[in-house]
Amino acid sequence: MTAKTNNNHYMIKVNVGGYSSFVKDAEYQNYVKKALEAYDVLQSEKGAGNDFLGWKTLPSETPESLIADCEAVRDSWKAKGVNLVIVIGIGGSYLGAKCAIEALSHCFVEPATKVVFAGNNLSEEYLAELLDLAKTRNTAVVVISKSGTTTEPAVAFRIFKEFVEQTYGKKEAAERIVAITDAARGALKTLSTQEGYKTFVVPDNVGGRFSVLTPVGLLPIVLAGFDIRALLKGAADEREELLKKGPQNAAVEYAAMRNLLHTENGKAVEILVTYNPKLTYIAEWWKQLYGESEGKDGKGIYPASVTNTADLHSMGQFIQEGSRIMFETVISVEKANRSVVIGTDPQNLDQLNFLAGQHVEHCNAMAQLGVKVAHIDGGVPQLEVGIEKIDEYNLGALFYFFEFACGVSAYLLGVNPFNQPGVEAYKKNMFALLRKPGYEAQTEEILKRI
Ligand code: PA5
Repeated sequence: MTAKTNNNHYMIKVNVGGYSSFVKDAEYQNYVKKALEAYDVLQSEKGAGNDFLGWKTLPSETPESLIADCEAVRDSWKAKGVNLVIVIGIGGSYLGAKCAIEALSHCFVEPATKVVFAGNNLSEEYLAELLDLAKTRNTAVVVISKSGTTTEPAVAFRIFKEFVEQTYGKKEAAERIVAITDAARGALKTLSTQEGYKTFVVPDNVGGRFSVLTPVGLLPIVLAGFDIRALLKGAADEREELLKKGPQNAAVEYAAMRNLLHTENGKAVEILVTYNPKLTYIAEWWKQLYGESEGKDGKGIYPASVTNTADLHSMGQFIQEGSRIMFETVISVEKANRSVVIGTDPQNLDQLNFLAGQHVEHCNAMAQLGVKVAHIDGGVPQLEVGIEKIDEYNLGALFYFFEFACGVSAYLLGVNPFNQPGVEAYKKNMFALLRKPGYEAQTEEILKRI
């Protein structure tokens, strides 16, 4: 593992070790060479999908006025006493904010402003229960859709727009709804102009799953009470690191090893492993990023995840002894933010006095090491992506690292990282079954098949 520092901060560290029994060094060097070529494709901005590279410069080019605008919404809603913000969006229009807020929030203590998410499912029960909550709170809504036409958020927005208008009146509702959408196109943009909503723009050249550092992520994160300036600073510092091309570039190391394990060792599944439940949703964000970017043209590594140590008692058996189809990438956190020490028990019935005086996180770290050795023995290679601790700065760095590495890795694999043609297939069938005008022929066709 190469320790990298930038302004006294640890930057993302990748450890491709623990593979020696799986991969020969010459093979790895060959894949590093391929990854460096893919790096050049990404940096030349001449590869497939090169009109969606706006995310690369977001950390350093986000204007102060945009950050201040996000903070101004937070302050104006605070002044109104808003204590519930419903963020409506799906896929890339919610996962970045959701995972950052989960990672940064206290697990149990309710924040001053609770940020919740809707429009990422079509469950009636979910929406009804969220309405129950909204009725007891001082509520505002952020609706996010780049296209402005995605069904799930559009359905949820109809419901919560009506709720806010009925509860606060139409004029006040317009001050409690913010839309984040395309600068000029789409139904949500048209509606926002008509209704006078404040809007933020999803840049044309940034795809949904790469949009966490645009207002799509920044606004919900700041509304939840977190420091988006530190988030962007972490991303900017990581960008500086990744601009240094070479075999020890963390994105090159990660892209090289995961493609080598996939292509030469037949590993079809990559499991992102975390050892803190706060990071569970980081894995959900990562799964979308890598799944949508690489899973096409009959190619790609299937992205999965586990949260340990809980999942050692559910998926652990399969990973240790089941089909040998996977490798693991562990998000390793160097320092805990909190301290809880295990005490001495005079009776020692549980025979745990040998742990007295130890931090719980020490046990977690030993579990992580024990799993590493066991899984390598069981035929599961382990990579590590290391961060210093869970805070805004490190999350910004982690977001940027995974996005950049995704571009390198997908070009190495030989696919366009920035499109998602497969996402459309279910929508046509759903519209036909919901009898959307214009889909009549497909309705008959599908009904014959089900
Ligand atoms: O990464 C993507 O592009 C997708 O996951 C989109 O974010 C998702 O489909 C939502 O799209 P939209 O923001 O247009 O509603």
